[in-house]
Amino acid sequence: MIIRTMTAEDIIAVRNMEQGLFAEDWSEHIWQQELSNEISNYLLLEEAGTVLAFAGYWLVAGEAQVTRVATSKEHQRRGLGAQLMSALVERAHQQQAFVVSLEVRESNRAARELYRKLGFREQGIRPNYYRATHENAVLMDLVVE
Ligand SMILES: CC(C)(COP(=O)(O)OP(=O)(O)OC[C@H]1O[C@@H](n2cnc3c(N)ncnc32)[C@H](O)[C@@H]1OP(=O)(O)O)[C@@H](O)C(=O)NCCC(=O)NCCS
Repeated sequence: MIIRTMTAEDIIAVRNMEQGLFAEDWSEHIWQQELSNEISNYLLLEEAGTVLAFAGYWLVAGEAQVTRVATSKEHQRRGLGAQLMSALVERAHQQQAFVVSLEVRESNRAARELYRKLGFREQGIRPNYYRATHENAVLMDLVVE
C-alpha cells in the first residue's frame, strides 16, 4: 500500500471510486481545475494500482483547508481514512501550515469520528451550510506542531 500525490492521470480512477460517496460527484472539469490550482494538494492511497482512498486540501495563508476525503465503499473501516488523513496532516506541516481545518455535515458520524480520533476539535457550527438539505456544518480544526 502506498500514499502518493494525485495527478491528472488519476482522475478517472478517483471519479469511479467516489461514485455514490458524496451528495455531488465532482465532474472531470472540476477535478482538472482542482489539480491545476497551485494551492491544492491531493493524496491517494493505493494498493496494486487500485485507488482505495483520497484526501485533499487547499493551503491558504498557513491554513490547510480540507476539501474532500473518501475511502472506497468496499475498503471502509480498515483504518485507511485515518492513515491518509495522518499523511495529509504531515504534508500540510511540511508545507508550513499551522492549522488543518475542515467542515463536515452534522449527520456525518463516520467522518466526525475519524477527525475526532485524529485530534481534531469541534470549533462551532455553520447553520444551514449545505443549502440543498438545510444541514448544518460542523467546523473542526487541528493545530499542527
Ligand atoms: C469518512 C470516511 C472517509 C472514513 O474512512 P474509513 O477509511 O472508513 O475510516 P477508518 O477506517 O480510518 O476509521 C477511523 C475511525 O473513524 C471512525 N469511523 C469510521 N467510519 C465510521 C462509521 N461508519 N461509524 C462510526 N465511526 C466511524 C472510527 O472511530 C474509526 O476507528 P475504528 O474503526 O477503530 O473504530 C468514509 O466513511 C467515507 O469515505 N465516507 C464517504 C465520504 C465522506 O463522508 N467523506 C468525509 C466528508 S468530506
